[in-house]
Amino acid sequence: MDKILVTGGLGFIGSHTVVELQNEGYEVVIIDDLSNSSEKVLDGITSITGKKPLFEKLDLKDRPKVETFFEKHNDVKGVIHFAASKAVGESVQEPLLYYENNISTLVYILKELKKLPSAAFIFSSSCTVYGQADELPITENAPVKQAESPYGNTKQIGEEIISDTCKVTPSLKAIALRYFNPVGSHESAKIGELPIGVPQNLVPFITQTAIGIREQLSVFGDDYPTPDGTCVRDYIHVVDLAKAHVVALNRLLQNKNKANYETFNLGTGKGSSVLEVVKAFEKVSGEKLNYKIVGRREGDIISAYADTTKANNELGWKTKLTLDDAMRSAWKWEQIVRGNK
Ligand code: UD1
Repeated sequence: MDKILVTGGLGFIGSHTVVELQNEGYEVVIIDDLSNSSEKVLDGITSITGKKPLFEKLDLKDRPKVETFFEKHNDVKGVIHFAASKAVGESVQEPLLYYENNISTLVYILKELKKLPSAAFIFSSSCTVYGQADELPITENAPVKQAESPYGNTKQIGEEIISDTCKVTPSLKAIALRYFNPVGSHESAKIGELPIGVPQNLVPFITQTAIGIREQLSVFGDDYPTPDGTCVRDYIHVVDLAKAHVVALNRLLQNKNKANYETFNLGTGKGSSVLEVVKAFEKVSGEKLNYKIVGRREGDIISAYADTTKANNELGWKTKLTLDDAMRSAWKWEQIVRGNK
């Protein structure tokens, strides 16, 4: 079976994707610098799939090491590139760190892929490229808006770099996957989301509050023009998201792609408000969540959810899991991580 490199393969979405790749029979090599992950994740992956993926601790900014890696693994048929920094606020404070981490590393990998006889490349992009879209649900044709942060800009520039490279590199085929809001964990609760420090994202903040690590969830604003006044997002179960990567990779490896560079939205197509997420959590966990409404968070968009038509029709992929499933698995994971279960 084909050998696939997964960069950032010990992270939240990366680890779930490695599980799905191994379940499909792919041979996986993981590169991770462990800056926001742990080698212990390998045990979780191994326990779920019965197979330990190859792993190299490597910082992709180290170009000579990246070259050596590809010399050793010149039989790699595809790369799923998750490795990147993703904290929006930090990117505003440290823009150069973000451009170096997210852009220079992408360039180094593409330079290596150009040397191979053929290569498939899957890029982690984000619905953040659309900003506050003028029309909902958001299709892939919605215009890319001025980025709100250096982090968002790295996703936009990253897509442009890949598109430009594909135009002049017939041996390279690529898909950018624009994720909406990934949440939840594998049902086994052997892998999951492990934010370092205070979580910035809603779902880990909810589960950490319920378990007692955080005192209270602040709901950022209830005066938005939405049904209940809180912001609306498209929360997609990470296992559904991981499976979409395998489908996208198969598409490229089986030459089913319609262009050398394609983009797909990955979401459920359904918008949920912050209060709906809180209610879903309370329902599946049986816990009462301590939350209060506070002022708006700077930079938040009002509402975003995906038009999934292109992914459904072209990839033949659809989400199967619900918000309740995601909240149930996120809660199970939180309890296991904290040793309460
Ligand atoms: C955020 C980033 C986005 C990035 C994505 C990656 C911002 C402004 N946007 O998206 O660029 O691609 O993460 O996962 O940081 N919320 C609360 N209380 C909290 C945390 C969140 O009410 O403590 C609300 C937010 O206002 C938002 C929703 O929950 O309405 C989801 O927030 P979050 O999980 O941070 O995701 P995004 O803002 O969609």
